[in-house]
Amino acid sequence: MANTPSTLKRGRHTTVALKVAMAITGLIFVLFVLFHMYGNLKMLMGAEAYNHYAYFLQNDLLYPILPHKGGVWLMRVVLLACILIHITCAFTLWHRAGEARGSKYKVDTGVKKHQTYASRTMRYGGIILIAFIIFHLLQFTTLTFSIGGDYHSVEPFERLVMAFSPQNWWVYAFYFIAIGALAMHVRHGVFSALATLGLDRREREFAFNLIAWICALALFFGFMLPPTMILFGLIS
Ligand code: HEM
Repeated sequence: MANTPSTLKRGRHTTVALKVAMAITGLIFVLFVLFHMYGNLKMLMGAEAYNHYAYFLQNDLLYPILPHKGGVWLMRVVLLACILIHITCAFTLWHRAGEARGSKYKVDTGVKKHQTYASRTMRYGGIILIAFIIFHLLQFTTLTFSIGGDYHSVEPFERLVMAFSPQNWWVYAFYFIAIGALAMHVRHGVFSALATLGLDRREREFAFNLIAWICALALFFGFMLPPTMILFGLIS
């Protein structure tokens, strides 16, 4: 089918809508992981503080505005919707970019190489993250498997100490790679999302980059601190 000016214009509008949807759902997820990372740091305050927090999260989040357990279910529904929208938009945009490359760009410019590198990192990083999230939920939310001891018979704090103890160094290694992938994904994703929503002004580029780096570094070091302390016997 021939590309008339009106179909091209419509195509551009849909691309912008997809990018805005990716930006909003991605930023909601970033807020969740920052909140989750901050919560995990309660491990540094000891078993009682962390278990109290874990109980609050599961039972009393947004209580009494919502009934007991209503908050955690609301959060799950929002996160699931965000992931599904984010992935669907990503696939649609890749498909469109592939079509455009096939038909239009024959010259391998530096800009194109840079874009390809970023999108490839986002793609593989995204796949690692999905695999991690599935593993993570089966491990700590549904307790489908236990690593390092029986999770059903202990409190949340003890589960983390079992999971990241030195004999399970591979669990630590897997989390290290996944949190590394998360940090890289967030670094590029936050910058792109802010650029999409902030109408891509050149004078805002520095601020957007700074915010993206701060989020990525805070997530990497904040998430990895408790497991690293457990690995070295500083939390037990
Ligand atoms: C070192 C890194 C992390 C640790 C130690 C950790 C630990 C935990 C624990 C212990 C729980 C269960 C909380 C409870 O119910 O008691 C949990 C739940 C969860 N985590 Fe993580 N987490 C980490 C990183 C992440 C990351 C990077 C993501 C997302 C990309 C994530 C997403 C979730 C989700 C969606 C839940 C389920 C909440 C629910 O539905 O109840 N976590 N995490």
